[in-house]
Amino acid sequence: MFERELLMIPGPTNVDPRVLSVMCKPPLSHTSPEFANILKEALENLKKVFMTKSDVFVVAGSGTLALEMAIANMIEPGDKVLNTVSGYFGQYFVEISKVYGAKFHVLEVPWGKSVKPELVKEALKKDDYKAVTVTHVETSTGVANPVREIGEVVRKHSNAFYIVDTVCSLGGMEVRVDDWNIDVCVSGSQKCLGVPPGLALVAISPRALEYVEKRKVPVGSWYGSFKNWLPVMRDPTKYFATPAVNMVYALNEALKLVIEEGLNNRFRRHYVLAEAFRTAMEALNLQLVAERESASDTVSAVHYPEGVDDNQFRSEMKKHGIIVAAMLGPLKGRGFRVGHMGNVNRSDILSTIAAIEATLKRLGCKLEAGNGVAAAQEKLLSLTK
Ligand SMILES: Cc1ncc(COP(=O)(O)O)c(C=O)c1O
Repeated sequence: MFERELLMIPGPTNVDPRVLSVMCKPPLSHTSPEFANILKEALENLKKVFMTKSDVFVVAGSGTLALEMAIANMIEPGDKVLNTVSGYFGQYFVEISKVYGAKFHVLEVPWGKSVKPELVKEALKKDDYKAVTVTHVETSTGVANPVREIGEVVRKHSNAFYIVDTVCSLGGMEVRVDDWNIDVCVSGSQKCLGVPPGLALVAISPRALEYVEKRKVPVGSWYGSFKNWLPVMRDPTKYFATPAVNMVYALNEALKLVIEEGLNNRFRRHYVLAEAFRTAMEALNLQLVAERESASDTVSAVHYPEGVDDNQFRSEMKKHGIIVAAMLGPLKGRGFRVGHMGNVNRSDILSTIAAIEATLKRLGCKLEAGNGVAAAQEKLLSLTK
């Protein structure tokens, strides 16, 4: 029997049948007017989601490619970069900066804490940076960093390009590229947008684009060069490299769903479900990795009570048909992560909480099964009509 599974991991997330069904269509010619119209529509809607009037890019690859494109295009060897790190994915920017020959300075905060704008301000006073990198939602800890506030600091206290990773937030939490002074905003398809993995998404400010067009040292990536992709993004009948045609169908359909729901309704849904989940964890005396005031609305990382085996916990959850994720890096084995993003609804959250309770009970933890679900239901009642 085909087992139905609920993917409650922080990406890939559950994909709507409307999105899955368009993916089955035969691929069109990638330079045909029919395909160009689909890509154009997707790009227009993607601009709405990034909240930008400037250029956006859709390129086959995962979120990591988008991170790499940002650094490859904005950084020349020897440039100074301030990399803020609050967990596993913040470190990606450090590694990529290394590869592209940057002189990088790492501003690191303990896992579970957010990067405070004040710290960025202090660092900017001490040196002149070409770019500052920030991870919006740090998926390894469930922390949401204050992207808007850091953006104000970066603009006020430096000339640096502001590069933001929104792989785990775009389409689930507010991201305002133009209003928040973001120069390069990078994301991926498989999380809050509810598209399968396979697309790197980028938004770029006019000032960043101007720099890219004028820079003398060639970009160290041919496939990832904004300059090479820009003509295609402005006129999708043009060719640079074959786009992932069926993935573009999927993105286009998923973005229509996002727009139909309305961005604010979508952010509110994510907030309400995250609050319900957090409240349930508190009712079960389970500790979140993220400090409460910085907890993201898209993913939660939860510490295990004493004595719980990670593999056993996640296999037991799977018997309920619910897939949760392991922790990363130094937290591996010490807890689990739940992605509450994309097409997630109230029943998904309640059944995940019920399965967590049942699983912990089966593994011998002392807890009152039902407390988490009851607390979540109360929260849902208070936050919804
Ligand atoms: C915040 C963040 N940045 C970057 C990545 C890397 O994205 P991908 O796995 O799509 O390459 C992830 C993946 O989980 C992520 O959560």
